[in-house]
Amino acid sequence: MTVLVLYATVEGHSRKIAEYAAAYLEKRGQGVVVGDVREPGFAVPGRFDGVLLCAPVHMGRYPASLAQFIIDWKTALAEVPTALVSVTLAIHSGNAEDRAEAEGYPAQLEKKTGFHIPKVHHAAGALKYLEYDFFKRMLMRQIASKEGAPVDTSKDYEFTDWTALDAFLQEFADDISLAARA
Ligand SMILES: Cc1cc2nc3c(=O)[nH]c(=O)nc-3n(C[C@H](O)[C@H](O)[C@H](O)COP(=O)(O)O)c2cc1C
Repeated sequence: MTVLVLYATVEGHSRKIAEYAAAYLEKRGQGVVVGDVREPGFAVPGRFDGVLLCAPVHMGRYPASLAQFIIDWKTALAEVPTALVSVTLAIHSGNAEDRAEAEGYPAQLEKKTGFHIPKVHHAAGALKYLEYDFFKRMLMRQIASKEGAPVDTSKDYEFTDWTALDAFLQEFADDISLAARA
């Protein structure tokens, strides 16, 4: 069985998650192809037994490339287990309203694409203060302060719960095995 893991990313954290997911699935005996959703090449859904999409939310939305990919491939995606790892900062917030907002992003994506994503994992992302330009650093510091995240901009922070991601990936791998047997 071969799984397609595609990512969209702005600052690299969703790619890191996708690569982690690929390594996890490979260790459990799956063939895996990893790629950027903007340049899938031959890595398109119809050839795979499952598809995992990993993408961040920036300014309230996923990258346009993710939505376009889903629109283009939704018929093929509907035929195999398909899952999304939604990467946000808000899911890590101490504020319940922020977390609810993060939980609502996949529904917005579904509305935009007309595709129901059967399985979603919400992963907390990263704050990369050292990589941001001045304005982005100030913006993210402000958002972090509102959400109870660190505001010391002399360091980067990563909030992803890798153990929770493992559990999700195991469920996803089980879905693929079950679908292949059906
Ligand atoms: C300019 C900017 C805007 C962001 N907007 C949001 C947002 O609206 N909601 C949210 O939960 N996280 C937001 N984030 C946090 C990102 O989702 C988080 O940093 C994630 O790890 C980025 O993933 P990437 O490295 O794959 O791009 C934002 C980050 C940046 C830098």
